[in-house]
Amino acid sequence: MEEGVALPEPLDKVIRVKLSGVELPLQLLSLVKIMGRGAEALLYYARFLGYPAVLKWRPPKTYRHPRFDSYVRRERTLTEARAIYRARKLGIRAPALFFVDPDNAIIVMEYVEGMLYRDLIPRTEIDESCRIARVIGTYAAMLHQEGIAHGDLTTSNVLVKGDGDVYLIDFGLAVTSADDEDKGIDVHIFLRSLESAHYHLYEKLFDCFIKGYASIVGSSGAERVIAKVREIRLRGRYVEERRARKR
Ligand SMILES: Nc1ncnc2c1ncn2[C@@H]1O[C@H](COP(=O)(O)OP(=O)(O)O)[C@@H](O)[C@H]1O
Ligand SMILES: [Mg+2]
Repeated sequence: MEEGVALPEPLDKVIRVKLSGVELPLQLLSLVKIMGRGAEALLYYARFLGYPAVLKWRPPKTYRHPRFDSYVRRERTLTEARAIYRARKLGIRAPALFFVDPDNAIIVMEYVEGMLYRDLIPRTEIDESCRIARVIGTYAAMLHQEGIAHGDLTTSNVLVKGDGDVYLIDFGLAVTSADDEDKGIDVHIFLRSLESAHYHLYEKLFDCFIKGYASIVGSSGAERVIAKVREIRLRGRYVEERRARKR
Protein backbone atom coordinates (compact mmCIF):
# COMPACT_ATOMS: atom_id res chain seq x y z
CA MET A 1 0.00 0.00 0.00
CA GLU A 2 1.47 3.30 -1.07
CA GLU A 3 0.33 5.56 1.65
CA GLY A 4 -0.53 4.23 5.04
CA VAL A 5 -4.27 4.24 5.26
CA ALA A 6 -5.52 2.43 8.30
CA LEU A 7 -7.86 -0.19 6.94
CA PRO A 8 -10.59 -1.84 8.95
CA GLU A 9 -9.23 -5.19 10.07
CA PRO A 10 -11.14 -7.62 7.83
CA LEU A 11 -10.42 -5.58 4.71
CA ASP A 12 -6.81 -5.17 5.72
CA LYS A 13 -6.48 -8.93 5.99
CA VAL A 14 -8.04 -9.53 2.61
CA ILE A 15 -5.88 -6.98 0.88
CA ARG A 16 -2.68 -8.13 2.60
CA VAL A 17 -3.29 -11.78 1.83
CA LYS A 18 -4.00 -10.96 -1.76
CA LEU A 19 -1.14 -8.56 -2.12
CA SER A 20 1.37 -11.13 -0.94
CA GLY A 21 -0.35 -14.07 -2.61
CA VAL A 22 -0.83 -15.01 -6.19
CA GLU A 23 -4.02 -13.12 -6.84
CA LEU A 24 -2.73 -10.82 -9.45
CA PRO A 25 -5.37 -8.14 -9.75
CA LEU A 26 -5.07 -6.84 -6.23
CA GLN A 27 -1.30 -6.86 -6.44
CA LEU A 28 -1.76 -4.08 -8.89
CA LEU A 29 -3.91 -2.11 -6.55
CA SER A 30 -2.76 0.47 -4.10
CA LEU A 31 -5.12 2.12 -1.73
CA VAL A 32 -4.54 5.78 -1.44
CA LYS A 33 -7.16 7.24 0.81
CA ILE A 34 -10.54 6.80 2.32
CA MET A 35 -13.22 8.51 0.26
CA GLY A 36 -16.08 8.02 2.52
CA ARG A 37 -18.83 5.92 3.80
CA GLY A 38 -21.97 5.30 1.86
CA ALA A 39 -25.15 3.86 3.27
CA GLU A 40 -23.73 0.35 3.34
CA ALA A 41 -20.22 0.49 1.94
CA LEU A 42 -16.79 1.95 2.57
CA LEU A 43 -15.19 3.65 -0.39
CA TYR A 44 -11.47 4.02 -0.97
CA TYR A 45 -9.71 6.03 -3.57
CA ALA A 46 -7.13 3.73 -5.15
CA ARG A 47 -4.95 3.12 -8.15
CA PHE A 48 -5.40 0.07 -10.28
CA LEU A 49 -2.77 -0.58 -12.93
CA GLY A 50 -2.03 3.08 -12.54
CA TYR A 51 -5.61 4.14 -13.26
CA PRO A 52 -7.53 6.20 -10.72
CA ALA A 53 -9.89 3.72 -9.14
CA VAL A 54 -12.43 3.31 -6.38
CA LEU A 55 -12.53 0.27 -4.14
CA LYS A 56 -16.00 -0.31 -2.76
CA TRP A 57 -16.15 -2.69 0.17
CA ARG A 58 -19.29 -3.82 1.93
CA PRO A 59 -18.16 -4.55 5.47
CA PRO A 60 -19.86 -7.23 7.56
CA LYS A 61 -22.91 -6.06 9.49
CA THR A 62 -22.98 -7.58 12.93
CA TYR A 63 -26.72 -7.16 13.35
CA ARG A 64 -27.27 -9.76 10.62
CA HIS A 65 -26.72 -13.47 11.16
CA PRO A 66 -23.17 -14.16 9.84
CA ARG A 67 -24.31 -16.62 7.18
CA PHE A 68 -27.09 -14.33 6.03
CA ASP A 69 -24.70 -11.38 6.13
CA SER A 70 -22.17 -13.15 3.87
CA TYR A 71 -24.98 -13.99 1.50
CA VAL A 72 -26.30 -10.43 1.35
CA ARG A 73 -22.88 -8.86 0.85
CA ARG A 74 -21.97 -11.35 -1.85
CA GLU A 75 -25.28 -10.95 -3.67
CA ARG A 76 -25.17 -7.15 -3.63
CA THR A 77 -21.61 -7.18 -4.90
CA LEU A 78 -22.51 -9.54 -7.73
CA THR A 79 -25.73 -7.67 -8.46
CA GLU A 80 -23.85 -4.40 -8.65
CA ALA A 81 -21.13 -5.78 -10.92
CA ARG A 82 -23.61 -7.46 -13.27
CA ALA A 83 -25.84 -4.41 -13.47
CA ILE A 84 -22.91 -2.08 -14.18
CA TYR A 85 -21.78 -4.44 -16.92
CA ARG A 86 -25.23 -4.60 -18.51
CA ALA A 87 -25.78 -0.87 -18.22
CA ARG A 88 -22.51 -0.17 -19.97
CA LYS A 89 -23.39 -2.62 -22.72
CA LEU A 90 -26.54 -0.60 -23.33
CA GLY A 91 -24.46 2.54 -23.76
CA ILE A 92 -25.24 3.97 -20.34
CA ARG A 93 -22.31 5.64 -18.63
CA ALA A 94 -21.28 3.84 -15.45
CA PRO A 95 -17.83 3.24 -13.95
CA ALA A 96 -15.78 0.59 -15.77
CA LEU A 97 -15.29 -2.54 -13.68
CA PHE A 98 -11.68 -3.36 -12.87
CA PHE A 99 -12.01 -6.20 -10.39
CA VAL A 100 -14.79 -8.04 -8.56
CA ASP A 101 -14.32 -10.26 -5.51
CA PRO A 102 -17.80 -11.42 -4.40
CA ASP A 103 -16.49 -13.55 -1.51
CA ASN A 104 -15.00 -10.49 0.12
CA ALA A 105 -17.67 -8.08 -1.14
CA ILE A 106 -15.18 -5.93 -3.03
CA ILE A 107 -15.56 -4.10 -6.32
CA VAL A 108 -12.76 -2.09 -7.84
CA MET A 109 -13.97 0.29 -10.51
CA GLU A 110 -13.04 3.33 -12.50
CA TYR A 111 -12.87 6.54 -10.50
CA VAL A 112 -15.28 9.06 -11.96
CA GLU A 113 -14.06 12.51 -11.17
CA GLY A 114 -17.16 14.57 -10.83
CA MET A 115 -19.79 15.99 -8.58
CA LEU A 116 -22.86 14.30 -7.23
CA TYR A 117 -25.94 15.54 -9.06
CA ARG A 118 -27.44 16.33 -5.65
CA ASP A 119 -24.61 18.79 -4.94
CA LEU A 120 -24.58 20.17 -8.46
CA ILE A 121 -28.25 21.19 -8.57
CA PRO A 122 -27.93 24.16 -6.18
CA ARG A 123 -24.70 25.28 -7.87
CA THR A 124 -25.67 25.24 -11.51
CA GLU A 125 -28.14 26.77 -13.95
CA ILE A 126 -31.57 25.22 -14.17
CA ASP A 127 -31.01 24.48 -17.88
CA GLU A 128 -27.99 22.37 -17.02
CA SER A 129 -29.82 20.58 -14.18
CA CYS A 130 -32.64 19.94 -16.64
CA ARG A 131 -30.27 18.50 -19.23
CA ILE A 132 -28.86 16.12 -16.63
CA ALA A 133 -32.32 15.08 -15.38
CA ARG A 134 -33.18 14.34 -19.00
CA VAL A 135 -30.11 12.15 -19.43
CA ILE A 136 -31.02 10.29 -16.23
CA GLY A 137 -34.52 9.81 -17.66
CA THR A 138 -33.10 8.28 -20.84
CA TYR A 139 -30.82 6.00 -18.79
CA ALA A 140 -33.72 4.84 -16.61
CA ALA A 141 -35.84 4.06 -19.67
CA MET A 142 -32.97 2.23 -21.40
CA LEU A 143 -32.52 0.05 -18.32
CA HIS A 144 -36.27 -0.49 -17.97
CA GLN A 145 -36.59 -1.50 -21.61
CA GLU A 146 -34.12 -4.28 -20.88
CA GLY A 147 -35.96 -5.38 -17.76
CA ILE A 148 -33.46 -3.81 -15.38
CA ALA A 149 -34.35 -1.44 -12.55
CA HIS A 150 -31.59 0.54 -10.84
CA GLY A 151 -33.06 0.05 -7.38
CA ASP A 152 -31.81 3.27 -5.75
CA LEU A 153 -32.14 5.99 -8.36
CA THR A 154 -31.50 9.09 -6.24
CA THR A 155 -29.69 12.33 -7.04
CA SER A 156 -26.85 11.00 -4.81
CA ASN A 157 -26.24 8.05 -7.10
CA VAL A 158 -25.52 10.14 -10.18
CA LEU A 159 -22.10 11.64 -10.83
CA VAL A 160 -21.57 14.46 -13.31
CA LYS A 161 -18.09 14.90 -14.74
CA GLY A 162 -16.57 18.28 -15.43
CA ASP A 163 -17.24 17.82 -19.15
CA GLY A 164 -20.92 17.21 -18.41
CA ASP A 165 -20.98 13.45 -18.90
CA VAL A 166 -23.53 11.81 -16.62
CA TYR A 167 -22.69 8.55 -14.78
CA LEU A 168 -24.95 6.21 -12.86
CA ILE A 169 -23.41 4.52 -9.80
CA ASP A 170 -24.51 2.34 -6.86
CA PHE A 171 -26.25 -0.58 -8.59
CA GLY A 172 -26.19 -2.89 -5.57
CA LEU A 173 -29.99 -3.00 -5.32
CA ALA A 174 -30.59 -3.46 -9.04
CA VAL A 175 -33.35 -5.80 -10.18
CA THR A 176 -32.64 -7.74 -13.34
CA SER A 177 -36.11 -9.07 -14.00
CA ALA A 178 -37.87 -5.80 -13.35
CA ASP A 179 -41.64 -5.61 -13.62
CA ASP A 180 -43.76 -2.45 -13.82
CA GLU A 181 -43.64 -2.15 -10.05
CA ASP A 182 -39.82 -2.11 -9.94
CA LYS A 183 -39.72 0.43 -12.74
CA GLY A 184 -42.29 2.59 -10.98
CA ILE A 185 -40.23 2.42 -7.80
CA ASP A 186 -37.15 3.69 -9.67
CA VAL A 187 -39.06 6.70 -10.93
CA HIS A 188 -40.75 7.24 -7.58
CA ILE A 189 -37.42 7.21 -5.74
CA PHE A 190 -35.97 9.69 -8.21
CA LEU A 191 -38.95 11.98 -7.84
CA ARG A 192 -38.79 11.76 -4.08
CA SER A 193 -35.08 12.53 -3.96
CA LEU A 194 -35.77 15.67 -5.99
CA GLU A 195 -38.64 16.57 -3.73
CA SER A 196 -36.73 16.16 -0.49
CA ALA A 197 -33.55 18.00 -1.42
CA HIS A 198 -34.56 20.42 -4.17
CA TYR A 199 -38.15 21.20 -3.44
CA HIS A 200 -38.52 24.40 -5.47
CA LEU A 201 -37.15 22.72 -8.59
CA TYR A 202 -38.64 19.31 -8.37
CA GLU A 203 -41.59 19.76 -10.70
CA LYS A 204 -39.43 21.26 -13.40
CA LEU A 205 -36.67 18.66 -13.04
CA PHE A 206 -39.09 15.78 -12.91
CA ASP A 207 -40.60 17.05 -16.12
CA CYS A 208 -37.13 17.04 -17.69
CA PHE A 209 -36.57 13.48 -16.46
CA ILE A 210 -39.86 12.32 -17.95
CA LYS A 211 -39.05 13.97 -21.30
CA GLY A 212 -35.85 11.94 -21.38
CA TYR A 213 -37.74 8.82 -20.37
CA ALA A 214 -40.35 9.36 -23.08
CA SER A 215 -37.66 9.91 -25.73
CA ILE A 216 -36.77 6.22 -25.30
CA VAL A 217 -40.08 4.48 -24.58
CA GLY A 218 -42.52 6.96 -26.14
CA SER A 219 -45.17 8.99 -24.39
CA SER A 220 -47.34 5.94 -23.74
CA GLY A 221 -44.41 4.25 -21.96
CA ALA A 222 -43.83 7.36 -19.90
CA GLU A 223 -47.53 7.64 -19.04
CA ARG A 224 -47.55 4.05 -17.94
CA VAL A 225 -44.68 4.54 -15.52
CA ILE A 226 -46.22 7.77 -14.19
CA ALA A 227 -49.47 5.92 -13.51
CA LYS A 228 -47.46 3.35 -11.56
CA VAL A 229 -45.71 6.09 -9.57
CA ARG A 230 -49.12 7.53 -8.61
CA GLU A 231 -50.22 4.14 -7.42
CA ILE A 232 -47.01 3.64 -5.41
CA ARG A 233 -47.36 7.07 -3.81
CA LEU A 234 -50.84 6.19 -2.67
CA ARG A 235 -49.48 3.07 -1.06
CA GLY A 236 -46.45 4.79 0.43
CA ARG A 237 -44.85 2.65 3.01
CA TYR A 238 -43.90 -0.30 0.81
CA VAL A 239 -41.02 1.61 -0.72
CA GLU A 240 -39.73 2.80 2.63
CA GLU A 241 -39.43 -0.81 3.71
CA ARG A 242 -37.41 -1.76 0.64
CA ARG A 243 -34.98 1.07 1.18
CA ALA A 244 -34.67 0.35 4.88
CA ARG A 245 -33.44 -3.15 4.05
CA LYS A 246 -30.31 -1.65 2.56
CA ARG A 247 -29.13 -0.29 5.90
N1 LIG B 1 -16.77 5.16 -9.33
C1 LIG B 1 -16.81 6.21 -8.50
N2 LIG B 1 -16.10 7.33 -8.77
C2 LIG B 1 -16.11 8.38 -7.93
N3 LIG B 1 -16.82 8.43 -6.78
C3 LIG B 1 -17.55 7.34 -6.45
C4 LIG B 1 -17.59 6.19 -7.28
N4 LIG B 1 -18.38 5.28 -6.70
C5 LIG B 1 -18.84 5.84 -5.56
N5 LIG B 1 -18.35 7.09 -5.39
C6 LIG B 1 -18.61 8.00 -4.25
O1 LIG B 1 -18.87 7.26 -3.08
C7 LIG B 1 -20.22 7.49 -2.63
C8 LIG B 1 -20.85 6.20 -2.12
O2 LIG B 1 -20.84 5.23 -3.16
P1 LIG B 1 -22.14 4.36 -3.50
O3 LIG B 1 -21.78 3.40 -4.58
O4 LIG B 1 -23.27 5.28 -3.77
O5 LIG B 1 -22.31 3.55 -2.13
P2 LIG B 1 -23.57 3.35 -1.15
O6 LIG B 1 -24.23 2.10 -1.63
O7 LIG B 1 -22.93 3.12 0.17
O8 LIG B 1 -24.43 4.58 -1.23
C9 LIG B 1 -20.93 8.08 -3.82
O9 LIG B 1 -21.99 8.91 -3.43
C10 LIG B 1 -19.83 8.85 -4.51
O10 LIG B 1 -19.63 10.10 -3.88
MG1 LIG C 1 -25.10 5.66 -2.92
